[in-house]
Amino acid sequence: MSRRTLAVVSAGLSQPSSTRLLADQLAAATRDELARRGVEVELRPIDLRDHAHDVVNHLLTGFPPPALRDALDTLAAADGVVAVTPIFNASYSGLFKSFFDLFDATTLADRPVLIAATGGTARHSLALEHAVRPMFAYLRAVVVPTAVFAATEDWSQAAADGALRSRIVRAAGELADQVARRAPAAPPDPFALTAGFDELLAGRDPS
Ligand SMILES: Cc1cc2nc3c(=O)[nH]c(=O)nc-3n(C[C@H](O)[C@H](O)[C@H](O)COP(=O)(O)O)c2cc1C
Repeated sequence: MSRRTLAVVSAGLSQPSSTRLLADQLAAATRDELARRGVEVELRPIDLRDHAHDVVNHLLTGFPPPALRDALDTLAAADGVVAVTPIFNASYSGLFKSFFDLFDATTLADRPVLIAATGGTARHSLALEHAVRPMFAYLRAVVVPTAVFAATEDWSQAAADGALRSRIVRAAGELADQVARRAPAAPPDPFALTAGFDELLAGRDPS
């Protein structure tokens, strides 16, 4: 069996979080679909709630604290990404957007991504298409055709076993196809510069 890694990003703020629940279900379904294709996958959860303060600090200073650096490296080295945001005011949450603002337009290029969202009302499901998908298009990621939206009513037992479940399985199959057909992503270069020359020179002892 070949091996891959899947970064599973949730921007849910509640505890417990319906966004994390959806992310976990999508990740498990993708793992099953990849196993059917002879690929073993390691799931790497990233809860943006845990990095919220660090994301803002990174935006202000240009330097990621170690825990956030690990999360950024995990995402940069993953073979595929599940990215799930709660819908706030008819769009992605600010934390979700701020986290992906830390990536330039090359890091996620050609990376398979499954996008999903949770919300209070299904009337806002198209936020995935008018906000989340264009952001990943700018980042040149390969977003699978099926985006999964789970409104509060979708978590009732019947809906969760029926319509929502079938959307999850379809999207997971699409992500698994994209991940399986690519060679494993190269791990991040441990010697790569993580700061610009200006920053390095500013921190250098002039003596
Ligand atoms: C500030 C705020 C704005 C929200 N705006 C919307 C909205 O525009 N559309 C929607 O469907 N749900 C909206 N919601 C509901 C959240 O999307 C929903 O509760 C989400 O699933 C919570 O995810 P969590 O359980 O992972 O925290 C909003 C919630 C908050 C707190």
